[in-house]
Parts: sequence; structure tokens; C-alpha cells
Amino acid sequence: MTVLIRTEVEVLAWVKPIMGEATTDPVRLPPVPRIPKLAQGIGFIAARDKAITAVARRLGSEFTLNLPIFGPTVVISDPALVKELFTMNTDLIARAGVLGEVLGPGSTFSLDGTAHRQRRKLLVPPFHGKRMQGYEHIIEEEVMREIASWPEGEDFATLPSMMRITLNAILRAVFGADGAALEELRELLPPMVLKSSRLAVLPPAARRDYGPWSPWARAQKLRRRYDAIIAGLIADARRDPAFEDRSDVLALMLQARYDDGSPISDDHVADELLTLLAAGHETTATTLAWAVERLRRHPRLLTRLADEVDAGGSDLLQATIFEVQRTRPVINGTARRTRTRIRLGEWVIPERHVVLVSISLAHAAERSFTDAAAFNPDRFVGKPPDTHAWIPFGGGIRRCIGAAFANMEMTVTLRTLLREFEFGTTYAPGESAHSRGVATAPGDGGRAVVYRRSPRTPSTVHGDAAAEVSA
Ligand code: HEM
Repeated sequence: MTVLIRTEVEVLAWVKPIMGEATTDPVRLPPVPRIPKLAQGIGFIAARDKAITAVARRLGSEFTLNLPIFGPTVVISDPALVKELFTMNTDLIARAGVLGEVLGPGSTFSLDGTAHRQRRKLLVPPFHGKRMQGYEHIIEEEVMREIASWPEGEDFATLPSMMRITLNAILRAVFGADGAALEELRELLPPMVLKSSRLAVLPPAARRDYGPWSPWARAQKLRRRYDAIIAGLIADARRDPAFEDRSDVLALMLQARYDDGSPISDDHVADELLTLLAAGHETTATTLAWAVERLRRHPRLLTRLADEVDAGGSDLLQATIFEVQRTRPVINGTARRTRTRIRLGEWVIPERHVVLVSISLAHAAERSFTDAAAFNPDRFVGKPPDTHAWIPFGGGIRRCIGAAFANMEMTVTLRTLLREFEFGTTYAPGESAHSRGVATAPGDGGRAVVYRRSPRTPSTVHGDAAAEVSA
């Protein structure tokens, strides 16, 4: 529901005047920590979230860092400033980051200004909340197939399963792939996306061809294979007598037309599909693994959720997903780069500076979330989160296109798991966060112990924490 409302708000952002102002006032940056530039860089690379939290404890919610790759960076997290930045006129700020370079010129990540707005206008309808119900059966099928081999009564990591479920979900619902193409993409894409995202965070020199064995040349070889498979999928879709009735995002992208009547070119469709996979596969899988990690440690919540699922409800489950995303955001921050000198709240930020919205700091703020350190889904039951305080999907014109898709995937996956299994609970300390490059995952892979539920038995709680009464 909330996801739906947000998509509509976003549509309005195209027609409403967007906020923000350029200025010639003297530069006024938030405080800089007294740490040498080199140490700031090392701290950020080694433990980005911990480093940012430590600085925030000393300097407050806004500060300035000098970071590798990004350069001078203003970190913000206060909802008022976050709102100002996310709704700022795109003549003043652009997206920061180099992912577009490895995904291709037709990727949403490579587009800015008018070209970006026009592309989003075509991509938002296929991902609109109202369409999501149509994909639920694909997710449920993938979950059932994956859990058929889950061992009973044994401790195991759920992240590999979550990665397979979310990969297959995107390949089927977004790429419209099946048969041999599905098999081939399933093999090809995970290593290809991993190689590309590693290359994206290296200096530009790493993205040059130094001969057939250089990392860039090898990544390009995989890319050529990928392009050939996508060309086949596009040709098949166009030949499909049911093309106009298809609901996969590939078919919808091929049918979409810009205001001047032109289509998205086939090359751009290939870049965009890769973008949707790179952005949507690991992020959703790691959030699901965190959900398992959290639920095992909250036995009473588990029982309430199983009861709700049995009764056909979903309010507590939705609130639980919101709270998992608040307390364990898998993307820690999102960045913009100033095109000109801008005013942001009381600060005046010069041209070519990065403004990094720290999602982790925003979600840990006591002024936005009472008892912020506690995992308490009840805070969101009947009270959807605030748009600029709860920001796991970013915001404004760059807000995650796949938010409704991810929410649907997580709802169906968790609902199916709660219907099929009882989860062993534990008093073990929470799993620590581990950065996988794109997303932050539970360090032990979201371990679980499961027991199959016999049909229609009321849910019971197994495990160390079974006697615990409070969630
Ligand atoms: C729990 C899962 C997910 C999380 C936490 C997540 C998070 C994010 C974040 C933080 C951004 C940047 C937003 C900003 O800069 O304001 C983003 C952008 C994006 N996401 Fe997601 N995402 C998820 C799932 C997905 C899925 C399933 C898809 C597609 C199938 C997707 C596609 C995209 C795209 C295309 C963008 C770029 C939007 C643009 O630049 O206009 N994401 N996502």
C-alpha cells in the first residue's frame, strides 16, 4: 500500500516544480573530523558504516569527509535535509557513482537530467505497485522449488537460497526468460555482475583493455555473450503471437514509447535489464537473509507472524519488512554530486562536491525512531514509515524503481516460509554485517534451523529462545 502511494508521489514529482537553489554565497561546509585524509580514506574503505557512525557521534548528523573515489563529501541524514536533497532540481545536482560505466550507456545509472526523466517515465509503469500481484505466483513457485531441499533440524545459511530465489524471480518476471536462455543467464549473470561491480569501484585505468587476460577484456567477453542471449530474447518476444498480452518487463519495455513515439533501442533494453538485475538481485536476497536472522532472535514475533499468515493477514508481516529494512539497511548510503554551488539547509556546498545520504545514520536516529536500537516491527503496524526518515530505497526522482517489486518478493517469500516451516530460535548474538560490495549481508549468511509444519497445525516455537515471551 505504502509502496503504491510513494510511486504516485514520484509521478507527481515530474509535474511539480522541484526545489532547491543555486547560490553565490560564501561556502559553508559542515565540520570536518580531525583525522588525516589518509586515515579517513582507510577507515571508510575498511568499515564504512562504523567509520561514519563514529564521526557522527562526535560531530552530529552533518559533517564533511575527504574520501577515496568520491573526493570531498558532505554526509547528511537529517530528514529535513534529506528531503531538500531528494527533491532538488536536477539542474543543481546529479547522480554520483560510476556503476553506469560498467552497465552501459543505456542504463538508468548512466542517464541524467531530461534523458533520465524520460526513461523513468517508461520504466515506472511496469514496476507500479498495481502490477505486482501478477508476479506473485512466480515468486511462490521459486520459493517452493528452493525450499524443497532445505534440511530439517540442521543449521544452515539461507543467503545462497535467497540469492537463487531473487535471481530466478528477476530472470522470469523482468527478463521474461525461460528454457535454455533462463539456464544460460542463471550461469552467466552472477559472476558477470560481481566482476563488473568490482571493476566499478576501481580507478578508471582498471576499465581499459590491456589484452585478452586483463580483467576488463574478460568482463567484455562475458558481456558479448550476454548481449547475444538478450538479442535472442528480444527477437523471440517480437515473434511471440501473445507479445501484446505479456506482462514481463522486457515485453513492456519493448512496447513502451517516448513522447516523440520512438522506442527504447535494443542496446539500451539490454543495458537496462542488466541494471535491473544488478540493482535488484543481491539487495533483495540480503534483506531476506537479514529477515531470517532477525526473526530467529524474536520468538514471540515469529509466533504472531505465523498466526497472522494462517489467518490470511499481512499487516504485521509488512511492518516486519519495514523494520528489517530500517535496522539492517543493505545499501548504507546513496550519493548525489553538485553541478553548481548550492544551498542545503544552513550549508553552502561548492560545485563538484558529493553529498552522501547516510541511510544507516538516518535509520538509527532517535529523533526519527523512538528506541531506535530496538527491533520493534510494532512501530510500523498501521503507521507506515515517514518518506524522508525511512529511506532504504533512497528518494526523489532517483528512488529505487524496483521498490514495489522487492516488497512483493519479500512478502511472498516470507509468507511462504512462515506457512511451510517453524523456525528454530536462538539466543546467539546477532550476526555481524558483512559488505559484499553492492549490499551488506549478515556475516554468517542468515543462518536458520527449520522444521516442516504439518498442515493446519498451530505454529509452535522450537529452540533456545522458545521460552522467551517478549519480542
Ligand atoms: C530490498 C531491495 C532493494 C533495495 C534495498 C534497493 C535500494 C536502492 C537504492 C538505495 C537505490 C538508490 C536510490 C537513490 O539514489 O535515491 C536504488 C536504485 C535503483 N534500484 Fe533498487 N533496491 C532494491 C531492489 C531493487 C529491485 C528489485 C530492482 C529492479 C528489479 C531495483 C532497481 C533499481 C534501479 C533501476 C535503481 C536506479 C534508479 C534511478 O537511478 O533512477 N532495485 N535501489
